[in-house]
Amino acid sequence: RANIINILWVILKEDAVLAVVPYGEPPLIKGWIPYIGKALEFGKDAHKFLEEYKKKHGDIFTVLIAGKYMTFIMNPLMYPNIIKRGKQLDFHEFSNQVAPRTFGYPPVFSSKFPGMPDQIKRSFHLLQGDNLTPLSKSMMGNLLLVFKQDHLDKRQMEDSGEGGWRTDSMCEFCSKVMFEATFLTLYGKPASKRRHSSMETLREDFIEFDKKFPLLIARIPIWLLGRTKAIREKLINYFLPQRVSCWSNTSQFITRRVELFEQYNSLRDMDKAGTHHFAILWASVGNTIPATFWAMYHLVSHPEALEAVRQEIHSLLKLWGMDDFSDRDINLSREQLDQLLYLESAVNESLRHSSSSMNIRVAQEDFSLPLEAEQSVAVRKGDIITLYPRSMHMDPEIYDQPEMYRYDRFVQDGRQKTDFYKDGQRLKYYCMPFGSGATMCPGRYFAINEIKQFLFLLLLHFDLQLVEGQPKVTLDTSRAGLGILLPAKDVRFRYRLRAA
Ligand code: HEM
Repeated sequence: RANIINILWVILKEDAVLAVVPYGEPPLIKGWIPYIGKALEFGKDAHKFLEEYKKKHGDIFTVLIAGKYMTFIMNPLMYPNIIKRGKQLDFHEFSNQVAPRTFGYPPVFSSKFPGMPDQIKRSFHLLQGDNLTPLSKSMMGNLLLVFKQDHLDKRQMEDSGEGGWRTDSMCEFCSKVMFEATFLTLYGKPASKRRHSSMETLREDFIEFDKKFPLLIARIPIWLLGRTKAIREKLINYFLPQRVSCWSNTSQFITRRVELFEQYNSLRDMDKAGTHHFAILWASVGNTIPATFWAMYHLVSHPEALEAVRQEIHSLLKLWGMDDFSDRDINLSREQLDQLLYLESAVNESLRHSSSSMNIRVAQEDFSLPLEAEQSVAVRKGDIITLYPRSMHMDPEIYDQPEMYRYDRFVQDGRQKTDFYKDGQRLKYYCMPFGSGATMCPGRYFAINEIKQFLFLLLLHFDLQLVEGQPKVTLDTSRAGLGILLPAKDVRFRYRLRAA
């Protein structure tokens, strides 16, 4: 009897039913509630949850979360073994269930749309390589347009009183500038004007939808989420084909997608192009806006980092004979931006700090997955294998004092630092805000580039300060696992034009 009581006590204390698992399968944590399993605890703070179970069960364990068995691989030295198995461990099976439900379009991986997934995949090249050059040029022009009209007007700034200083909320500021400049770059502008008149309403609707995004991903039916369905319809209708076709300077990427949807529209009953445009709008700004915020916040709250990055910008401008920017129209090419090592490092450091995306893969067959020299785990068809790179980003063995922001963490001996170690072994993957393998974010180069462009203009043209007396901004962990975390609370800052 004493033994039974002991066992029960252990089970209660552990708060985990460690089911008897077949040989070779990882420990299974099921929780007490059938089907739901550990979903509530996980949803509250995924990072804390995973770190606790890593301490208890080691690098590999399976958790029941809302009816799904998810196996977490917590050791980054094992990541290459997962990432290289793109065929056995597939990303799209999962995304093809989640994305259509969230954004409201029919699954594209179906026999109704033969060849469509391949064509969509091919269109991603239009965001990369040589195609990034016109995108980057257009983005810089649009950032300048928004900055000049809204923030760089000397008279307006002086009229604002307080010696030309203006005060604003930082996340809101980043959101306004990046949302509009990215939209103009990807989708284009109205035929007669340089800016869309309804941009602010579109942005506000987008933010309303985005607040409910984690609940939609968690499979909460949209009809339970108040006005979310109506807002989603409104956002989708913004992209009605007759409207999109009137916009000019549209990127090649979106133009290609419009052609693609027309092609399938004429073949089948698919009047859903707007939903796809809306999904791409989410992909292109949903993470970029908070990433821009954190990059700006860390620099403004670390004046020595801000000065060092600004110094780098000035030195290189001088070297290139571009140090006269009195007309504030200065434009940098992509190659020039790439030479700003400290700026790049500052962006990567803020991504390391704020990124929390999970890499989810679904097993396509039963197989034995080798993870270390002598260790394999048995995987069953349909199992979900998950990488959680935030755990690596915050590992003190890999990143000394990981909680600290160090703008130059990714620079060594005048070049980009790429060697990071765990257990004495060099890591192949050490910073993964954009996912991994064949399905890694296709917009990653564009995203990093546009954040650098934003910071370049900001540091060049403005003095920046935090309004005093505010607490340090913390991460809102409620969307852990879903991308770049938002700030728990916005922060006030002051800015004024620097003497040209
Ligand atoms: C800081 C900004 C960004 C972050 C952190 C980010 C992150 C991610 C992540 C984690 C994924 C899933 C990859 C995987 O699990 O393998 C993803 C997918 C995707 N991202 Fe991004 N992204 C960003 C910006 C962008 C931008 C600017 C665009 C477009 C212009 C974009 C377009 C996409 C698309 C289309 C996918 C789906 C790819 C597929 O279905 O294969 N992203 N992104």
